[in-house]
Amino acid sequence: MRLSLLVLFFVFGFSACRPNNDDSKLENIWAVLIAGSNGWYNYRHQSDISHAYHILLKHGVLPEKIIVLMYDDIAHNPQNPFMGKIFNKPHGNDVYEGVKIDYRGENVNSEVFLNVLKGDAEGNAGKGTARVLKSKPNENVFIYYADHGGTDVLGMPEGLLSRKDLNEALYHMYENNMYKKLLFYLEACESGSMFEGLSPKMNIYAITASRHNESSWATFCDNDMNLPCLGDEFSVNWMHNTEFHDILSETVGVQVDDVVTTTKKSHVCQFGNTVVRNDMVSDYQGKEAQLVPPQNIELESVFFDEVQSSAIDSRQVPLVMAERTLRRLGASPELVASKMTRYIEKRAEMTEFIHQTAQTVAPQSGLIKHVMTKIPKRITQLDCHDEAIKAFDRYCAPFDRNPFAFKLSAAIANLCEIIRDSEPILAHFNKECSEGPIFYDVL
Ligand SMILES: *[C@@H]1O[C@H](CO)[C@@H](O)[C@H](O)[C@H]1NC(C)=O
Repeated sequence: MRLSLLVLFFVFGFSACRPNNDDSKLENIWAVLIAGSNGWYNYRHQSDISHAYHILLKHGVLPEKIIVLMYDDIAHNPQNPFMGKIFNKPHGNDVYEGVKIDYRGENVNSEVFLNVLKGDAEGNAGKGTARVLKSKPNENVFIYYADHGGTDVLGMPEGLLSRKDLNEALYHMYENNMYKKLLFYLEACESGSMFEGLSPKMNIYAITASRHNESSWATFCDNDMNLPCLGDEFSVNWMHNTEFHDILSETVGVQVDDVVTTTKKSHVCQFGNTVVRNDMVSDYQGKEAQLVPPQNIELESVFFDEVQSSAIDSRQVPLVMAERTLRRLGASPELVASKMTRYIEKRAEMTEFIHQTAQTVAPQSGLIKHVMTKIPKRITQLDCHDEAIKAFDRYCAPFDRNPFAFKLSAAIANLCEIIRDSEPILAHFNKECSEGPIFYDVL
């Protein structure tokens, strides 16, 4: 109680004392925040993004320079026991109230996102607020993306964002002097694959929740609020760091190293230009001073213990959620078991489908096992991979309904590396899925 009063006083007192001449230091940050999923079981992505919005706002990033893309089907979801609210940690604050969403519903897609990055307002005309980055060469850009991912691909509520797409947009920003430096935080499975080989000359420093060959982890899954997983491990850890440190004197390097240490379920990776590490976190997340709660080692360890103990491999979340829902609805143990078996079978069928694709288009028997098991670190056939995963998504297995399909993006990438041509893969998908998508993983 005393602390919160103190915080109120301090914040109020501080902003009242802020010089009202145009202190450009406060105004030279742009941010793009995107949750790339929808659906109740993906609660955590929109929760992470909403929380990040408030963190930036509280630290003085101007709302007119923060662009938010989120589907917005969580706060008022019929399944939400706390109608209109979203929580990023158990019994924490509502993070939904006050979030200004620029693109929601079907306007959250890769085309709109890429237009935002490239500053293409015309491209987004008529969609959402149509706001896009208008950052100048002396301004920093902070991008935070939370969603599902796979080898060289990120999810969207519909369709996909490939590494090729993202690369091209970032390169466009670089060539058009759209930033001084850019900090990118990415929460997704296999997210380490998205920035492999990122050129340091572009002045981008990208941090990923996981290596190219591992899942990222959801957390606060075992909450007692009857809610899905509330956050993701890497995400809640970086936000915790920002909230509990004086980011005006903490460098990006110190924050990233702290998050590397506190994130235990996956390996946080770094790409691009490490010069950004010497900048202050406030250069990207806002320069308005905040009262930092005094360090309380006991509370810290309670927080991190809970993050650890309630974490689930993101890939398993749909299964765990389905199982919990069935139990809550009073399904018999036999019914639960048979449904779970069915989900696992469907994953096996999808894997077998890609296996057959490999046998059809690359019949050299020695390589099939390699195609199916290797998770590539750096692919060279970006065009083939981009076309093949998008075709698999469109014709056979919509990724937004099949989070497991992301895992198969590795096999598709391997196939492309071998045959170096998307045509045979596309032809196979076209033929086998001519009557519409054949896979649906989610309830
Ligand atoms: C993932 O890749 C790293 C190298 O970046 C390697 O050390 C590790 O063993 C790999 N993990 C798995 C599960 O294959």
